[in-house]
Amino acid sequence: MCGIVAYVGTKSCAPLLVEGLRRLEYRGYDSAGLAVHGGNGIEIIRAVGKLANLDAALAKNPLAGTVGIGHTRWATHGRPSEVNAHPHAAGSVAVVHNGIIENHVELRKELQGRGVVFASDTDTEIVAHLVDEKLRKGAKSLEEAVRQSLTHLRGAFAIAVVWKDAPDEIVVAKQDSPLVVGIGDGETFAASDIPALLAHTRDVLFLQDGEMGVLRKGGFTLTTFDGTPVTRATKRIDWSPTQAEKGGYKHFMLKEIHEQPRAVEDTLRGRIDLERGDVLASEIGITPETAQSLGRVYFVACGTSAHAAMTARYWVEQIARVPAVVEIGSEVRYRDPVFLPNDLVIAVSQSGETLDTLAAVKAAKAQGARVLAVANVLDSAIPRAANGALYTHAGPEIGVASTKCFTTQLTALLLVAVYLGRQRGTLSADGGRRILEALWHAPGLMRTALDEEAALKAVAKKHLRARDMLFLGRGPNFPIALEGALKLKEISYIHAEGYAAGEMKHGPIALIDEEMPVVVLCPKDSHYEKTLSNMQEVRAREGQVIAVGTVGDHELAEYAAKGGVDVISIPAAEPEILPLLTVLPLQLLSYFMADGKGTDVDQPRNLAKTVTVE
Ligand code: AGP
Repeated sequence: MCGIVAYVGTKSCAPLLVEGLRRLEYRGYDSAGLAVHGGNGIEIIRAVGKLANLDAALAKNPLAGTVGIGHTRWATHGRPSEVNAHPHAAGSVAVVHNGIIENHVELRKELQGRGVVFASDTDTEIVAHLVDEKLRKGAKSLEEAVRQSLTHLRGAFAIAVVWKDAPDEIVVAKQDSPLVVGIGDGETFAASDIPALLAHTRDVLFLQDGEMGVLRKGGFTLTTFDGTPVTRATKRIDWSPTQAEKGGYKHFMLKEIHEQPRAVEDTLRGRIDLERGDVLASEIGITPETAQSLGRVYFVACGTSAHAAMTARYWVEQIARVPAVVEIGSEVRYRDPVFLPNDLVIAVSQSGETLDTLAAVKAAKAQGARVLAVANVLDSAIPRAANGALYTHAGPEIGVASTKCFTTQLTALLLVAVYLGRQRGTLSADGGRRILEALWHAPGLMRTALDEEAALKAVAKKHLRARDMLFLGRGPNFPIALEGALKLKEISYIHAEGYAAGEMKHGPIALIDEEMPVVVLCPKDSHYEKTLSNMQEVRAREGQVIAVGTVGDHELAEYAAKGGVDVISIPAAEPEILPLLTVLPLQLLSYFMADGKGTDVDQPRNLAKTVTVE
């Protein structure tokens, strides 16, 4: 998730662009840069690290001009470095981009075949070369060159392009990444998000997928990619800058909960081959021979990431038929564990910096095991220490309680399980296709599951006085129960425990009375009947049940009609996808309970987003 800003007007644009980028800092950044058209040509300045570094570079070498584009980068392709920072230039064109170009490998090869030499490892530089090529081959305008280039791109992108020979205009385009245009008085802006514009204008126009346009001093012309003119009225925004950063949501956590369908789409982008029922992820870096000779998959992770790993253990065993274990990082490092050369160690970490997980990775590597990192932050310590890395592409997560990083970890780990299954021959092409098609449709189902928000808010209100809560689930929904309990503890400070539903009678059932809310995960899966009996055991002891069940489940509805059970529905789905859905109501429930209690949801007491201490 990067941040784009663009300006065409009469003011000196460099300070204005940097200020806009500062307003997009919440989107995460590891480097930043500007390209400014000074009338005679385009000058580019880029700097790694904080925006202050870009400020310092500009102080040394001020950029004069009233037309420019700027970018804060949160790396997805190519490590954070000055060379990989945007804008990227080719010939007399400069480009900033937010998103992921899915077919970047193939386009890079094609361009190299035509003699193009790349300066960076990014997917974005491809766009600059394509536009430059079109202009050299006779495109009549920058708009036309961009339009022609778009026909080659697959994936998600919001781009802004400047060209030396068009000193008064910037061309922008959008597909699956946000882009908003701001209309001022004699000046026009574009940005990834509203906060970058609010200091200058509150009249904005949101581009839709498949639309592009030209920013000029006097206004903005909008068309579809194929050139059909579009007329759209501007909207007036009255949010404060802080409200705008949260997209109108009260907290970043709630915003991130709602971002999950999009985040999962980004994790899947370019990694699914439905025709072959296989996963395209060379970055996993495991040959068929290595996959076939695997003795064990050994997951290491902490907290929420460990719950993702625990869920993935079911998939790896069922789909790839390899024994799998999960250990929390802090235990591995002091346990003198035995790793074997044919172990695949999978380290799961949002931040990629968690010290305990990193120490486990180092121990595993020291004993000759191969390590795959599943991480969100590019080029962080754990992926760097591993042999391969599969990034989740969730974008920066600001709320301390992990939500979108969890569901994207699940997605990435299910891809790994399918990949291993296909490589080991334990999963047929048809079997792979069934799971991948289900994954492909998961974001839509997640959107439907999130529609239960109002119902969850009401349920949360009912239980605000609860001092303890239990979460029960079976199979892959057992780790989801653990995750639900962790979320609730973290942000509402209510004591909560997750249990395997079948384990309840071995102890925790003693806790149940009319004061105890019990969340039961009972979607229609192979564990359904058994979990339903566990729910009845809770009701028999007067426990208050919050059941997460499949829409249209009459048996559950009949049971709920007797009282004491609130039912929250999720859509029906293939079994592998269910954890991506059942966790959503639990996140929302925790959120509304915490918000109802008035806690600091985004920065709960005593917690840090990245835990780099023991
Ligand atoms: C999740 O809500 C937590 N804040 C925490 O458990 C977190 O998942 C854990 O610290 C691991 O972090 P990582 O994924 O960055 O390694």
